[in-house]
Amino acid sequence: MRGLRGADHDFTKIVLAKSGGVAFFSARTATNDPFVYRLGLQVFILARRVRLPYGSPSFTGLRPKRGLFGFRSAAYPTSAAVNALQKADLLRARKGGRPITALTAYDYPTARLLDESGVEILLVGDSLGMVVLGFPDTTHVTLAHMLHHVAAVARAKPRALVIGDLPIHTYGSPAEALETARQLVAAGAEAVKLEGGIRQAEKVRAITAAGIPVIGHLGMLPQRILEEGAYRKKGKTPEQAGAIREGAEALMDAGVSAIVFESIIPETARLLTRSLAVPTIGIGCGDHTCDGEVAVVTDLLGSYPWFVPPFAKPEADIAQITRDAVARYVARIRA
Ligand code: KIV
Repeated sequence: MRGLRGADHDFTKIVLAKSGGVAFFSARTATNDPFVYRLGLQVFILARRVRLPYGSPSFTGLRPKRGLFGFRSAAYPTSAAVNALQKADLLRARKGGRPITALTAYDYPTARLLDESGVEILLVGDSLGMVVLGFPDTTHVTLAHMLHHVAAVARAKPRALVIGDLPIHTYGSPAEALETARQLVAAGAEAVKLEGGIRQAEKVRAITAAGIPVIGHLGMLPQRILEEGAYRKKGKTPEQAGAIREGAEALMDAGVSAIVFESIIPETARLLTRSLAVPTIGIGCGDHTCDGEVAVVTDLLGSYPWFVPPFAKPEADIAQITRDAVARYVARIRA
């Protein structure tokens, strides 16, 4: 494959992807044969692995005007899905390389500003519940909230990878996890994130098998705050570190593109990062311990001053800028 160039290369990709699509289609809708299904998946994955330079229009060329047998097949990947997979592949390839930059975003203007400033991942995190919707923790966030805000971020059409969190109570089984992931993708997410390790592996497998990239989340799991009672550092003992490693390995086997590490002590985060094959993206794990960093945008901008986690490093004080600007406005109108 490596020797193929130009039109031959594109033709090969299209033939491979079409054969995969045919096998997928027949397995899903006609024969229901797991062998044909697996074969189709393998051929489709092979088609994806024939790499083209990032941004090549040949990727979008994969989508036919009409689908198989003259109508558009739901099993056939759209250019948006191919683009999302391509971005997720690029993310996975960043393991051990230039640090990955990620920020949360919950609305259109913020997404545009962050994207214009060069951040590579926009996470529509369920921290939305706390820093935008005014709930005490993330356990109040619903799928409707997430869909509303993922759609707003996606409307900015960012170059950055848009990840949507699966909110609590929406991924109890592999089938439910896949349905939730599909809804987030329909709203504009290019990848989804879920919390937890071994017990989420089958759910991750179901989502990735459907062609949707998944990001894991280990360490402090905010959706478990009610059971845990407090936000505590994780990975402090060899047993805790071992449990995180087992979770990470289960997630990797299931096909995650990267794993968020939250509030894992720096030594453990660094050791695990070195031994895992997928990138880790840290928050509250110390400096330069992971393959990248994610921050809650309101912590970075100082726009939510009522609770600032101890590890936050604000680069601005938007809260004070806002108060000052509004005070000047009030004074001007009253003058
Ligand atoms: O919801 C969120 O913002 C997150 C980050 C803390 C990683 O999951």
